[in-house]
Amino acid sequence: MIHSSAEELEQLEIELLLEALYRRYGYDFRDYFYESARRRILRRIQRNQLKSVAALQHAMLHDETVADELLKDLSINVTEMFRDAGFYQTLREQVLPQLSTEEHLKIWHAGCSSGEEVYSMAILLTELELYSYSRLYATDFNVAILERAMEGICPLGEMSRNISNYQSAGGRGDFSDYYHARYEHAVMSNGLKKNIVFSEHDLAVHDSFGEMNMIVCRNVMIYFNQNLKDRVFQLFSESLNEGGILCLGSHESLQSNVLNQHFEPLHSEQRIYRKIG
Ligand SMILES: C[S@@+](CC[C@H](N)C(=O)[O-])C[C@H]1O[C@@H](n2cnc3c(N)ncnc32)[C@H](O)[C@@H]1O
Repeated sequence: MIHSSAEELEQLEIELLLEALYRRYGYDFRDYFYESARRRILRRIQRNQLKSVAALQHAMLHDETVADELLKDLSINVTEMFRDAGFYQTLREQVLPQLSTEEHLKIWHAGCSSGEEVYSMAILLTELELYSYSRLYATDFNVAILERAMEGICPLGEMSRNISNYQSAGGRGDFSDYYHARYEHAVMSNGLKKNIVFSEHDLAVHDSFGEMNMIVCRNVMIYFNQNLKDRVFQLFSESLNEGGILCLGSHESLQSNVLNQHFEPLHSEQRIYRKIG
């Protein structure tokens, strides 16, 4: 008999649960940071008043609503408009003007959550007069959050922070031109939605999107282990045109052979890279 500590047994149970989630529903969290997945799984067990990881696995396998809860727990959707003002200011002043000679602009927002990031980009492109020949692809693996993104709604209570971020990022327009209020929500204008295509895409499972000029994937890979990060960098490298731009989040790790091989820094501080081959 192999002796295992309680900790090792718990890890085994969690790995089996993630394997079962993948094989039953196709969501692959097997290469997410173990500690952060563990915390969320244990919280779900408590909330559902279950006794063990194995009990959660049984419930999840037989009840899709439990799988949906688990998916929500594991996919963290925190976002805001013009998050990290310095990043958007760099895009506005230095990066996007360089792309203005392209005939068409294709930009992929991978892990777009409820859409604040892609609407911020749509505003930037509008103000730089680049929007009419741009196409934005906004993807996430969480269908429920993607539906919110498509509607373009945002709690009114969050708008003052969004407006202040917009101004810190160099926005000089009247932000109220970009949305109207409906009950407790701000609804982004149809003009901003016009050239955005929303679609389900799982970075851990699905293939590349072709011929992008820019990929924005911010605050998504912080939850991935190195294995999965390398898969995604490879996917991005295949999806970008030569000279295409890759934008990561401010805490995203740069330790990757794939990244070093195929990209050079354009703005290191803002984690903006250019594809070199
Ligand atoms: C913290 S949010 C970041 C949202 C936005 N990019 C930002 O920086 O404000 C992370 C998003 O990544 C999505 N996500 C996590 N794993 C994913 C995967 N394997 N494929 C696609 N999206 C994923 C989550 O559903 C969530 O909406």
